Amino acid sequence: MHTKLCLLLSCLFLFSTCAVQQPPKVTTPFPDDGTSVFHDQNKKPFYHGVASGDPLSNSVIIWTRVTPESVGQVRVKWTISTDKNMSRDKKSGTITTDAAKDYTVKVDVRNLQPNTTFYYQFEALDGKSIIGRTKTAGENDPSAVKLAVVSCSNYEAGYYNAFARIAERDDLNAVVHLGDYIYEYQPDGYSDPTLDRKHLPAKEITTLSDYRTRYSQYRLDKDFQKVHQMHPFITIWDDHEVANNVYKEGAQNHQPEDGDFMTRKEAAKQAYFEWLPVRDNATKDIYRTVTFGNTVDLIMLDERLVGRTYPVDSVGQAEFNAEDRTMLGAKQLDWFKNELSSSTATWKVIGNQVIFSPCDISGLGFGSPVNLDAWDGYPYERGQISQFLEKNNIQNVIITAGDTHSSWAFEVPSDDKKSTIAVEFGTPSITSSNSDERTPVDQVMQAEKVLAAKNPHLKYSDLRNHGYLILNLTQEEAVAEWYYVDKLNAPSDKEMLGKKYVVQKGMNKLN
Ligand SMILES: [Fe+2]
Repeated sequence: MHTKLCLLLSCLFLFSTCAVQQPPKVTTPFPDDGTSVFHDQNKKPFYHGVASGDPLSNSVIIWTRVTPESVGQVRVKWTISTDKNMSRDKKSGTITTDAAKDYTVKVDVRNLQPNTTFYYQFEALDGKSIIGRTKTAGENDPSAVKLAVVSCSNYEAGYYNAFARIAERDDLNAVVHLGDYIYEYQPDGYSDPTLDRKHLPAKEITTLSDYRTRYSQYRLDKDFQKVHQMHPFITIWDDHEVANNVYKEGAQNHQPEDGDFMTRKEAAKQAYFEWLPVRDNATKDIYRTVTFGNTVDLIMLDERLVGRTYPVDSVGQAEFNAEDRTMLGAKQLDWFKNELSSSTATWKVIGNQVIFSPCDISGLGFGSPVNLDAWDGYPYERGQISQFLEKNNIQNVIITAGDTHSSWAFEVPSDDKKSTIAVEFGTPSITSSNSDERTPVDQVMQAEKVLAAKNPHLKYSDLRNHGYLILNLTQEEAVAEWYYVDKLNAPSDKEMLGKKYVVQKGMNKLN
């Protein structure tokens, strides 16, 4: 039981994968990849809906994908407006897309008013897209900021009821996705096998064509499409956007028969930048800061592909504490420190993939006393960050984490454990399995009690529920609320508030 719990807690599952390397497929706009059954003809040729992301005070990324019926360049017109009829404060332009971009379309719309709701739409091939809604960030503005924080949206694990609930909200500035947006596994590789939600292509994804098809399938889901339509997203990848437990030079779920790792990693990054509404940059880096007025600096990190060095197998391994074992790497760490110390926003919210706080899991009866895939596995660099926060008296830091499919609230201890330097909130999965699918609930609750007893700085854990985290940040306080859906194995509109904490400004304390 506890082994299973561990597996679910930390994504450390080690099942064999049987990926077969397929020859590169010629990219055509036709959905010959199995996804055509999900194409709603009423949306032609914009079957994948719309999305927006990375809002600044004067610009935002708008996104769509056009699916033409013959190969070649497609000219797409975009329009943005402050009203749903697309007439007020209207701006428009055209952009060309083709197979080289997998027919995705991304526009960085500039010269917009700050803290304003916009509506946008695309036109091409005699069709119009659905109308999306988005919002720019504030500028020198003390307004409250409300973020939905999500992670781990495995298509095969269940229905996206949590995305549907978030889509219904009209009080959000943005949705922050902390990664595991897609999963790389073959059908039934990591799933609820009772559901008719099988991965496409029907293999472990390893090539550019594979990754594109997988994104296409996820974005044809009506609830995933709806949440993108209604809110701007700010996203980072975790491991499954490439392969389980990925690091700079390899991954647990990458074997020699999967081909060259660096080629796979570049393919995964290319598909991510094509299919996600992230702002393009030459090096395809995702670490960046999104500023919401003077209330929030949202600092997004990459803890997988630019700086994460080799993993260790145990805390007893000689290299465990080595200074050259990093999660961010020197360049990103310098940037991160600078973002922290130069921030003038009241709250510094860190978009972080894996749990930062130390967490003793030895009481759960499995091998390692800590999760080696989380910051507990990279203690030297974590110490550098903790000491930097403490020495520079950087206040009002809120770390958010995904990855574990579970909910957490920590008062983050300093490196010497003598004080508290931040708070940390872990968001549960949208769908990816945790303990409730496989372990009797009384045993899961017992595990939560063991965690609490071993970790006095851990104020809340829930290893049973799925849903999302809402962060409401004002000049005075930060409020965190965990919302849970009632089921994953069928569509449902029920949700409940599972837990709430308030953090007063200047206090690293959970009330
Ligand atoms: Fe995950």
